[in-house]
Amino acid sequence: MDKELLSKTAAAMVAKGKGILAADESSGTCEKRFKSVNVECTEENRRAYRNLLFSTPGVEQFLSGVILFDETARQKANDGTSIPQYLAKKGIIPGIKVDKGIVNLPFTNEEKVTEGLDGLQKRMKEYFELGCRFAKWRAVITIGEGIPTHACLYANAHALARYAAICQEASIVPMIEPEVLLDGNHSAERSEEVHEATLRATYAAIAAYNVSVEHLILKTSMCVSGKDHPRQAGVDEVAERTVRVLKRTVPAAQPGIVFLSGGQSDEAATAHLNAMASMKGLPWPLTFSYSRALQNSALKAWRGQAGNMAAAQKAFHHRAHMNGLASQGKWRADLEKAAA
Ligand code: 13P
Repeated sequence: MDKELLSKTAAAMVAKGKGILAADESSGTCEKRFKSVNVECTEENRRAYRNLLFSTPGVEQFLSGVILFDETARQKANDGTSIPQYLAKKGIIPGIKVDKGIVNLPFTNEEKVTEGLDGLQKRMKEYFELGCRFAKWRAVITIGEGIPTHACLYANAHALARYAAICQEASIVPMIEPEVLLDGNHSAERSEEVHEATLRATYAAIAAYNVSVEHLILKTSMCVSGKDHPRQAGVDEVAERTVRVLKRTVPAAQPGIVFLSGGQSDEAATAHLNAMASMKGLPWPLTFSYSRALQNSALKAWRGQAGNMAAAQKAFHHRAHMNGLASQGKWRADLEKAAA
């Protein structure tokens, strides 16, 4: 365990004005996204699309890291180098999704638990050799009638902590991602309660497995209203609820916190981050680690046509720029209109 490398990586992941692109969609999720723009989900199309994002001129100003899927970490960039090497040359830290996805947790109402611990120590060594310096594991928490159960929170917290310990042992920074889904008809208040219970369980397990909080990044959802709830909490309310929960549960010694977008609109994800990052006296830097809220507009502009590459890169650059500003509390809605 190289503590110096871990500290350096974690600090660089949350460097001022930068955030992380999540490009680690599994081939199944990628298929769904490509289908929405009528693109066939072949290995070569996945490579071409991701290379389009990574080679966007100037985007490294706003990106500290990229989370890759296993397949992408083994593919080549357009210049013939491996994708992790290509990113590192641009000053972008390559990361890797290491979980193997979710399954139903027995004796619950279809709650989920994440798999992927078997053989992880060996895989982690290989990812380090490939150049990856941080790793993501996503746990999924659903809000509904009588859920999440204690069993679900406990099982996911335990897996997150075990994976985080394996990462640190291999000098790879763990990005722990307990995602509370926004699907459902719950209120923002209920979302806040569930975030608090989830994060308390997660950090109790982190302590139990001797994971060092100094070398850890949290990737969290925000306390938004369920997408079917009749009252949608406004930007300031979401920001206040989310930061209140984070202050209650996340140690100040942690180097930073990043957010997922979770199905929020592009602009809502940016506005929420901006409102939180504007708050004074936060113990940790806050930034983005979005997939959909960074990629939606680029994917729509691309539609699988090489001729649309410049338009897609422009759209991607714009969202990365807006979120880079938001991570410093410097975004304003009129900047969006100016670009349109
Ligand atoms: P979204 O921003 O689309 O939620 O994706 C982030 C992510 O990495 C989910 O695991």
